[in-house]
Order: sequence, then C-alpha cells, then structure tokens
Amino acid sequence: MCGIVGYIGNKNACDVILDGLNKLEYRGYDSSGIALNMNGKIEVHKYKGRIKNLIEKLAPLGCNSQLGIGHTRWATHGAPSDKNAHPHSNESGSIALVHNGIIENYVQLREWLIKEYNVNFKSETDTEVIVHLIDHFYEGDLLDAVYKSIAKMKGAYAIGVICSHEPDKIVAVRKDSPLIVGLGEDENIIASDIPALLKYTRKVYLINNDEVVLLTKEGVKIFNENREQVQRDIFHVTWDAEAAEKEGYEHFMLKEINEQPKGIDVTLNRRLDENGRISLDGIQITKEDLEKINKVYIVACGTAYHAGLVGKFAIEKFAQIPVDVDIASEFRYREPFIDENTLFIAISQSGETLDTLAALREAKRRGARVLTIVNVVGSSVARESDDVFYTWAGPEIAVASTKAYTTQLISMYLIALHMAVTKNVIKQDYYDLLISELKALPAKVEKILENTDTIQEIAKLNFEKQHAFFIGRGIDVAVALEASLKLKEISYINSFAIAAGELKHGTIALIEEGTFLTAIATQDHLFEKMLSNIQEVKARGAFVLGVAKEGNKQIEQQANKVIYIPDCIDEVTPILSVVPMQLLAYYMSVLRGCDVDKPKNLAKSVTVE
Ligand code: F6R
Repeated sequence: MCGIVGYIGNKNACDVILDGLNKLEYRGYDSSGIALNMNGKIEVHKYKGRIKNLIEKLAPLGCNSQLGIGHTRWATHGAPSDKNAHPHSNESGSIALVHNGIIENYVQLREWLIKEYNVNFKSETDTEVIVHLIDHFYEGDLLDAVYKSIAKMKGAYAIGVICSHEPDKIVAVRKDSPLIVGLGEDENIIASDIPALLKYTRKVYLINNDEVVLLTKEGVKIFNENREQVQRDIFHVTWDAEAAEKEGYEHFMLKEINEQPKGIDVTLNRRLDENGRISLDGIQITKEDLEKINKVYIVACGTAYHAGLVGKFAIEKFAQIPVDVDIASEFRYREPFIDENTLFIAISQSGETLDTLAALREAKRRGARVLTIVNVVGSSVARESDDVFYTWAGPEIAVASTKAYTTQLISMYLIALHMAVTKNVIKQDYYDLLISELKALPAKVEKILENTDTIQEIAKLNFEKQHAFFIGRGIDVAVALEASLKLKEISYINSFAIAAGELKHGTIALIEEGTFLTAIATQDHLFEKMLSNIQEVKARGAFVLGVAKEGNKQIEQQANKVIYIPDCIDEVTPILSVVPMQLLAYYMSVLRGCDVDKPKNLAKSVTVE
C-alpha cells in the first residue's frame, strides 16, 4: 500500500524523504513523488515506476530544502501514472498533499468542488479532492483548513500536508491508515512505518485514529477530533536498523526464511518459564472467561488465514472448544453467530489489513471478545483488540510472508495450550510432550535451512512448469495451501492446493505427464493414505515431490524426490514442513527471474478492500 514520509528540520529534506521512501518500498507501489519547499515555493516531482526513477530525475536539480513530503503510491483510483502519483497540489501550487487510504465520498466532493468553485482537477485520484478542499478552507491557518476538510471526508486516510505560506510546519492526520511520528533533535518526521525513520530516531509517537498532528522543527503537537491537544507517551523502538535491511542475503525473503529459528525461539521461549509453564503477556483470559466461551472464530487473510487453519486444529484438539476459521473478506459480510460468549481471534502480520480490521470491528460490535495475534506493535488491529499476542518475528519486508507465518503458528499453539491448561482439559504428560516438541523446533528448522541442496535441485527440475499442485491430509492441507500460495505469488506459476482425498472428485483430470505435484505426508496416521494418493498421480505421469518425516523412508518408493523434515510428533509438523516449501517457492522464483521481494500486483500491507 502507499507509503508516506514527511520531514521538517535542518537536514536536506529531499535526502531524508527519498531514503525513507526506499525503506517503505516493501509496502508495494507503482509510482513515487516528492514535494519540497524551495525558496518559498513548493516544487513537486512525481513519476510512475520505481523510486530509482524519481531519484534519477531529481539528482541533476540538486534540491535542497528543510521541509517536504514524499509518497509511494499503490494505485486504487486511477491507473499508475505521473499525473495520478502523489503529492497532489491545489491550483496555485501553494499546498501539497500525500495520502494513504481511500476517500469514499470523493465523487460527491469532486462534483461539489467543480460545480460550486469551478475547480480544475488534474488527476483521476480520490486524493486530489483533499488538497482542493484544504485550499477551499484555507484562510491563513493550515491546521484549521485541514480540520474543516476532514469534517467533510469519509473513508480511510493518513495524510501529510505542507503549505508555502506556512513553511514552518507539516500537518498530518490519521484515520484508519497507519501514521507515526519520529521525534528528533530540531527535526521531526512523519511516516507510514518505522523503518522509514529508524536511521534518524528511535523515539516515536504512535498516532491514533482521528488525530491531527502539527509538526514544526522544534516540536510535535497531537490534537484529537475536538481540536484539544492530547499527550502521548514516547514509544521506543528496540529493534535495530539492520533488522530492516538485507544483511548480505540476496533477498529479504531468503533472509526472513533464515530468521525463522530466531523468531520461533523468541515468540515461544519468552512465554515459557523454566518449568515449561506458559505465561501470556497481553492476554487476560481467565478460567471463568473460558468457561463462558462456547465458540471461537479465527479470522484472517491469505497466509495468516492458513495459520488460522492450524490454529483451529490446535484449539479443538488441546482445549476442546469448537472453532470456525474464516476469510476476513467473507466473514465481514455474512451474519456470523456471535455473542458475548464468542472469542474472536484475528491473525495479521501487519495489523493494518483492512478486511481483518473490519471483521474484527464487526465481531466486537456483536459482543465478541477480540484477541489478536499480530506482528506490528501498535498497529490498528492490535490497538482495537481486547487481548493482544505479539509475534516477535521482527519486521517482515518481503511481500511473501514467511517468518510472520511460523511465529503465528507458534502463537496459535501457545494460546491453545494456555486455554487447555486454564480449562484443565489437558493431561500433564501430553502437555509436557508438546512443550518439549515446541522447544525443539528452532534447532530443527535450523537443520532444514542448513541443507537446501535437494530443494534447489527440485526447483531446477521444475521451475519451467506452468502448473503446480499441492496435496495433503489433516493439518497438511493447511501447509499445502500455504505452500501453493507462496509459490504462485512469487513465481507466477499457476498453483493449486487440495485435500488429497478430494483429488479423485475432479482435480485428478488435470494430472498428466510431467505435472509437478507436491505431496505433504507428515501425519503418521494418514501416511498410508497419502502413499495411495501419490500412486494415483504417479500412474498418470506426475512428477511427485514427497515431504515426509525422516523415518518414513517408504515414500521413496513412490515419489520422484523426497524432502525429509526432522522427526517430531504429528501435532507440530506444519512449522517444519512449511520451511522447505518456502525455500522451494523462493528458488523457483529466482530461477524464473521474478522480483522475489516485490511480486507484481501485490502489496505487503493491504489497507484497501
Ligand atoms: C502472502 C501474504 C498475504 C498476507 C495477507 C494478510 O505471503 O503475505 O497473503 O498474509 O495479505 O496480511 P496480514 O497478515 O498483514 O494481515
């Protein structure tokens, strides 16, 4: 989604903003732009394409300014183009604005501005109405004009505005789109996310919905919707700037795959005491609360939804509570059975996914208790939840989610076990076994990462195929779905996942000589069944990759190639089996020459519907 950076201070605003925009590239974008206050005038430069474009065009101009705003745009209203790129300006060019989100009533506002004030629109964007509104209300006080404008706007927006008549300030607003403020010495910065400002400061204000911020070089004031100044604690960013960089890996995705042992370890072990007892910071669900809960909904999108499928398995098996898993964009528009005895669990890496947020609000409105599993601290989803469980995966930059996913799985296991213990429905020796198996996972993932030769060889044999299939049974279906999503999103191979038992009900018609099919067969009690499914597709000419536990060598007689995961109990296999699948997708994508970290048409944080 779009990224915003704004700077006021003694440094060259152009450098700080371009640097910040580069750090926000991971959000996905198709154009970028900057507005700088230069000798009392605002200069705007904006182009379709990569930030590199913008940097190359700016270089000969030698821009030097102490105030500016910049933007990376991910098109929603109007195609990616120079004219639709942000910043947008008023007719005289005295005001410039960047925006992330969607203005729902922009058509009405646009018609009104044209009819009543003969405004000349230059772009097809919803954003442009905002700058003309501000222009319309401007009477020498930018803050006042912004307040009057947002009173007319409906939708989601984070905006940053500058005005040549008031070159000592930036005004910013947040409503349902992310916005933070970085606090420096004689300089202040606005941004959509922390990596954009980490080079300059670790002190951050998290801005709430409906708040308006006034930044000068000397300070930052936050106001609520009634124009009253509010106080905010400073949030200290503890992770390193390098954590958001590639650290020598060719791609962020590979770096993040390799960070999984650490992510799993931190997310898990900080919640366990020396006796293996779970203590869940941020979750205050008591025995009485749990006794009332008769239904759990897990709701998420994409990869996070696949983590939810494993979550259902864990909660039902360990805590014996029925669970429904739903896709957020579906859940929000149906009439789910929810009341005060429902526990709603949202899973999200970014914490800004609009569908997940909307589903969460709907569940809350209907009386559910809302628990969130989320990676981004202070994100919208986190802030609107009753209980928050943070995955400590660190910043995930590659669009394809990897380390966030495995930490979401760990979180689901911990929450399920915590519920089971609180409800007193799990035997001590089974609990102890599960905890020791979970604790062994970081080392086992490390082992998978140490030897990627077979995975690379399989990628080489299959990367030119047009189609791929993934099958599994039990919780392996969730892994098959995740493996398939990973492959299709970064390699553009038409990939499909299905429960192995469903093959013969239609999909097997697509299997022919050379079809690439991965059979995930990690569940001991379903292993024989999987071997039969492999035979079925082998008989029709498929190239079969089997994924199995180390001990289950029988699979070698059926599959063309096998990837083994270290031995473990069936319950925790998804955390191990997904890792070679992530690597397979990665190597296939590299071999196909794709943009691994920034696949086409995708954005890291999906803040629109
Ligand atoms: C796929 C991927 C997406 C996200 C989905 C939800 O690799 O990353 O499918 O999982 O867009 O995003 P979050 O978790 O930020 O809510």
